Amino acid sequence: MKEVEKIWFNGRFVDWKDAEIHILTHTLHYGGGVFEGIRAYDTEKGSAVFRLRDHLKRLFYSASCLEMEIPFSQKELEKAILQLIKINQVKECYIRPIAIFGYGKMGLNPKGTPVDVAIVLWPWKAYLGEKPISVKVTKYIRIHPKSTIPDAKITGHYVNSILASLEAQKAGFEESLFLDFEGFVAEGPGENIFMVKNKRLFTPSSGSILPGITRDTVLKIAKDLGIKAEEKKITLEELKRADEAFFAGTAVEICPIGRIDQTLINNGRMGGITQKIKNLYQRIVHGKERKYLNWLQL
Ligand SMILES: Cc1ncc(COP(=O)(O)O)c(C=O)c1O
Repeated sequence: MKEVEKIWFNGRFVDWKDAEIHILTHTLHYGGGVFEGIRAYDTEKGSAVFRLRDHLKRLFYSASCLEMEIPFSQKELEKAILQLIKINQVKECYIRPIAIFGYGKMGLNPKGTPVDVAIVLWPWKAYLGEKPISVKVTKYIRIHPKSTIPDAKITGHYVNSILASLEAQKAGFEESLFLDFEGFVAEGPGENIFMVKNKRLFTPSSGSILPGITRDTVLKIAKDLGIKAEEKKITLEELKRADEAFFAGTAVEICPIGRIDQTLINNGRMGGITQKIKNLYQRIVHGKERKYLNWLQL
């Protein structure tokens, strides 16, 4: 990871090496933290953050699920992120705000534990690269909606993702894919999935997934390309018979899928509709589409 100069930590800009926490930090032990993954892109008018308010809104929603009171307002965090980008003089970066139950008391109930908040950013290219990737359907099911709150971005949820990622890597695949507790297609360990069939776009309905901001972006921009998009329950058989498939998420952006288990999708190549969505997404995040400039914050 490429280090930058400063990290925002509990209201102050500190040196990268000084953003430290105690070993008895509550979240470190039990996974009750909340976080976001956001990207800033280089645009004609300078570095701009994509859908910043939507990400911060989700951060506060995730915190509310854990009854965590973030000791800063959404506006304060918004300002801190924009300042941090300027201070570190980066044009394009990945931004990671995180709020954790800190050091103060142990025991599972976090009530009364101080909440620490940090914002870290670093330059990070598309997480899974640009080429169509191989995907393994994992033996683990996606977190059950009655075991936790899947649409909250809670640190502990990512143990599920870690296990699936380790399994995929061991089997020689680049990424994994979860089915939900009913056996329908859910999502990747850190991104949502879409498929194209007969020129129409489909993505799993919400319920067992983190319905991402990129997923929302894709659903909205598909209309501009004249593509009908629909949320529905998708079986694995349907997905494997799809004309095209891709992942969508802040970290991976729009990432074509070339193979699911042993089944090639579109002969392992990026499909035309995926390419169109990917191109438009890149234009939007780089401030080249007037209609969507309000999604960018300088
Ligand atoms: C499990 C999971 N699903 C989907 C996404 C995609 O969400 P977004 O598009 O908001 O980055 C993420 C990333 O935050 C994720 O971790």
